[in-house]
Amino acid sequence: MNLFPIILAAGQGTRMNSSLPKVLHTIGGKPMLQHVIDCCGDLGVEKMAIVYGHGGDLVQDAINKKNIYWVLQKDQKGTGHAVAQAASLIENDATVIIAYGDVPLIKTKTLNMLANSLDSCILSVLTTKPDNPFGYGRIVRDADDKILSIVEEKDANDEQRNIKEVNTGFIAAKGVDLKRWLKQLEPNNKQGEYYLTDCIGLAVSEGGVVEAVVCDDPLEVQGVNNRIQQAELERAYQVVKTEELMLAGVTLLDPKRVDIRGILKAGKDVSIDVNTVFVGDVILGDNVTIESGCVIKNTTIANNTTIQANSIIDTAVIGEACDVGPFARIRPETVLKAKAKIGNFVEIKKSTVGQGSKVSHLTYIGDTQMGVDVNIGAGTITCNYDGANKFKTIIGDNVFVGSDTQLVAPVTLANGTVIGAGSTITKDTPENELTLSRSKQVTIKGWNRPTKNKKTANNNNKENS
Ligand code: UD1
Ligand code: CA
Repeated sequence: MNLFPIILAAGQGTRMNSSLPKVLHTIGGKPMLQHVIDCCGDLGVEKMAIVYGHGGDLVQDAINKKNIYWVLQKDQKGTGHAVAQAASLIENDATVIIAYGDVPLIKTKTLNMLANSLDSCILSVLTTKPDNPFGYGRIVRDADDKILSIVEEKDANDEQRNIKEVNTGFIAAKGVDLKRWLKQLEPNNKQGEYYLTDCIGLAVSEGGVVEAVVCDDPLEVQGVNNRIQQAELERAYQVVKTEELMLAGVTLLDPKRVDIRGILKAGKDVSIDVNTVFVGDVILGDNVTIESGCVIKNTTIANNTTIQANSIIDTAVIGEACDVGPFARIRPETVLKAKAKIGNFVEIKKSTVGQGSKVSHLTYIGDTQMGVDVNIGAGTITCNYDGANKFKTIIGDNVFVGSDTQLVAPVTLANGTVIGAGSTITKDTPENELTLSRSKQVTIKGWNRPTKNKKTANNNNKENS
C-alpha cells in the first residue's frame, strides 16, 4: 500500500499560553509532533507531509526532518483548508491518512486498521465514545447504522448533540477521492471554516460507503489544548512505559514516581526507587540498583552497579560493580571503569576513573585520566582551568592522594605516587615516592589567646538583645 500521512499542525494552541508552538510541547520528553511523526514512520511510509503555520522555523528546527514535506498553511481556515494545502503532493493512488500533531498517543496499529478498512469503503473515520462528547463532531448515522455525515458541535441540533459517538479527526481515503472532495468544500457553517469533516457527507452523496473504526481508548485519540490535558497524557504515557519495564523484569518501588523521558533499556533484576528521572537514551545492565532521587541522562550503566540516592549522572559510561553516590554528580564524557567508587559530594567531569579506584568524598576531578587502584582523599581538587584554558591531570596506577590536595594541571602523578595531605602539586611526581608541599608545622609556646575587651562585649550584648 502506498501510504501517505498528512499531519495537521498549523493550529496556534492559544490555550497553552506559551511562546512555544503547541506541537513542540512534550510528552515523555519528546515533542508531541515527533510522537505523531514516529507513529506514522512506523507505518513504513516513504514520505509524509506536515501542515504547519505558527512558529514554522521553530517547529522545523526541533523536528527530525527525514522524509518530510513541510507545507505552510498561512491562515488557519479550517481542517479541510489545511489538508487542501498539501493537495499537490497527494498521488491519486496513495492511501492518505490524516493525523494531528497535537494528538500524540495515537498508535501505528490503529492507523493501519484505519487504512486497511478502505478495502470495504471509500472513506474511513476513526471514532470514539468519550464520557462527555461535548465539543466534538458527532457521527450521524441512519436507521441502518450507515454513516451519513459528521456535524460539528456548533452546527448541531439538540438531537445530534445527544449522539455519543464522535469524530477523532483521523481519516483515511484514496488520494484521488480526497482531492475531489477537498475541491468541493465550502465554508458555509457557523465558524466560516472549510471543514475536513464535510468530506464524509460528500462521499455519501456520491453513493460511497463511509465506515468507522472505533477506538476504545479515549486517551489514544485525545488532543492537547491546554497544559492540564498535556499532563493527563503525560501520566498515561508514563503508565505505559513503566508497565513495559515491570513486565520486562524491572522492580519499580512505586511506578507512579518514576519518569522516563526517552528510551530506557534495562536488564534483569534492576531496581529503581522513587523520584528518579531518566532522560534520553539510558541503558541499565543486570542487577543495577538506582536509589531514590536520581537524574540519569544519556548514560550506560553496567551490571551490578549501585547508584545511591540523589545522584545526577549525565552522558557517562559507568562500568560493572561500581558504587556511585549518594549526592554524586557525574558530568558528560566521564568513564568509570569496573569497581570504581565515587562517594558523596564528588563531581567528576570529562575524566576516566580506572578500575577499583576510589574518590570517596568532597572532591572535584575534571579533565583527568586516572589509573587503577587509585585512592583520592577527601577535598582533592584538580585545578584544570586557568581562567582561559583547560588542562589535563594524569594520575598513574596505585596512586594515593592525601586529603585537601590541589593538583594544578597540567600535571602527571607517576605510578605509585603518594601525595601528603594538604599539598599543592604543580610539578610532575616521580614513581613510588612520597611528594608533598607543606609549610613546616610550628608551635608558638606560651601564646595567649585573645580575650574580649569588656566595653565591646557589653555593646555586643546590647545589640544582640
Ligand atoms: C476537529 C473536527 C471535529 C473533531 C475534533 C477532534 C473538523 C471540522 N472538526 O474539530 O469533528 O471532533 O477535531 O479533536 O475537522 N488545524 C490546522 N489548520 C486549521 C485548523 C486546524 O492545522 O486551519 C489543526 C489544528 O492544529 C489541530 C487540528 O487541526 O491539530 C484540529 O483543529 P481544531 O480547530 O482543534 O478542530 P476542532 O474544531 O476541535
Ligand atoms: Ca479542538
